[in-house]
Formats: sequence, structure tokens, C-alpha cells
Amino acid sequence: MIIVSSMKQIKVMQLLVNIDHVATLRNARGEGYPDPVEAAEISEKAGAAGIVFHLRGDRRHIRDEDVYRLKKSVTGILDFEMAASDEMIIICKNVLPELCTLVPEGREELTTEGGLNMKTVFDDYKNRVFPAFEDTGIKLSLFLDPNPADIELAHKLGADAIELHTGTFANAPDAASQRKELERLKAGAELIHETGMIVNAGHGLNLENLPLLISEVPYLRDISIGHALISKSLYWGLEKTVKEYIRLMNVQR
Ligand code: PXP
Repeated sequence: MIIVSSMKQIKVMQLLVNIDHVATLRNARGEGYPDPVEAAEISEKAGAAGIVFHLRGDRRHIRDEDVYRLKKSVTGILDFEMAASDEMIIICKNVLPELCTLVPEGREELTTEGGLNMKTVFDDYKNRVFPAFEDTGIKLSLFLDPNPADIELAHKLGADAIELHTGTFANAPDAASQRKELERLKAGAELIHETGMIVNAGHGLNLENLPLLISEVPYLRDISIGHALISKSLYWGLEKTVKEYIRLMNVQR
């Protein structure tokens, strides 16, 4: 857990390591290694505040048995990322993670391609999804692009947190479009905070773009990082890589 003082408040920012792509590598050869649960243990030992996994409908990386093993092994925050299908809701309620992050999911996509369209999902979330989680104690986070209208609708639903989609910022083709997206993220974070929800962020973050994000976007809490972190760990080792991300997050802004 990292305390970063800012002009606005004492901010508690923490790293959640997404271990999906440890499972991608394991599944490539049908072996039992590398084991995402072991990766989770090493990440937590190195200082990560928690672990994220995305159990996809097609089970392309994390599998059901991984989820139950992670639940037993993870001592910090367990963030269950999923589409809000009836199947996933049942599994999530069995597992009882601290946090559930709801994302859109497309069969053909390589990774989650953007935030939820709240206008489209609002009625379904209000009538089916949110009631299903009532009294479970699981906090609900919605993965959103920094659109004020989406944030307002998420607040209306009673979401505990918003995970801001940072993929557009991370993949911006030039400095001007990156700056524009950064301004949207800043405004989005301000609005989320004003409504009383927690501000999380993730997607496409790496050692190069993380410092800019955290120096400019206020109120960030959980930062979820997977692909770039796991990739770097092939060269550096997982412990050193996690520690380096945490060191960057500790830099005062
Ligand atoms: N947050 C969400 C909602 C995601 O879908 C993903 C990708 O699984 C991440 C964070 C992590 O993104 P990346 O693997 O690009 O770090």
C-alpha cells in the first residue's frame, strides 16, 4: 500500500497484478507451468496489494480451478474480472472475492477493447446484475471509458468503484491525442470521486506510461496491470518487476 500526498488529499494507490497471461503461457503447451497461482504468490510477496484475473467465457487463459486456488492463496485483494453473464455471476458468488470488476466481453477480441456502454446495459444491470450481488459483500466496479454520462449512470446503479479504461491513453498514436485522453481521464476521476465512488484504472499500462498517468490523474486507488508487467518479468523476473512498478507508484507527484 502506497501513500502519495497530493495537493488534494492523501491518496492511497496500490498495484494489483493481473496474472491472466501466466495462464496464457501455461495453456500454450498444455503443461501445469507456469502456474498463475505461484505468480500471484510471488507478486504479493514482492508487495502487490492484490491480484486480478479475468475468467472469460471461452476460458482462454484462467480456468475455473485456477479461480478457486487463487481464492485460497491470495491474502490481499482478489479482483474477479468478468462479463456479467449468469454463469459468471454464479461462480463469482461461490468464490466471494473482495472486488468484482464487470467488463464487456467479445468472443473475437484479443483483449477487453473498451469500457461498458452504460446506456445499453443499464436496465439489465439494474434488474438482474446488481440485485444478484446484493448482500454478498462483494464490491462492484465497472470498467468505463471516462465519459461523464457513463459515470453518472454507474453512480445511479450504486457501483462502489469505477475502473477507468486507460487503453486509449496507453495506445495514443501521438502526444496530442495522449494529452487529450489524459484530460478526459482527469475529469473522469474528479467526477467519480465527487460521486463518492472509488477510482481504479487499468489497461495497457507499462513502466513508460504509468508515471505520466499517476502524476496527472487524481484519486487513483487500484492500478491493474497485466500484459506489460508479465512480459517484462520474462527478462527481469517477477519479483524485481513488481517491485519496480511499486517503486514508480511511490514517486511523489
Ligand atoms: N483492467 C481490465 C478491465 C482489463 O480487461 C485488463 C486486461 O485484461 C486489464 C486491466 C489489464 O490490462 P493489461 O493486460 O493491458 O495491463
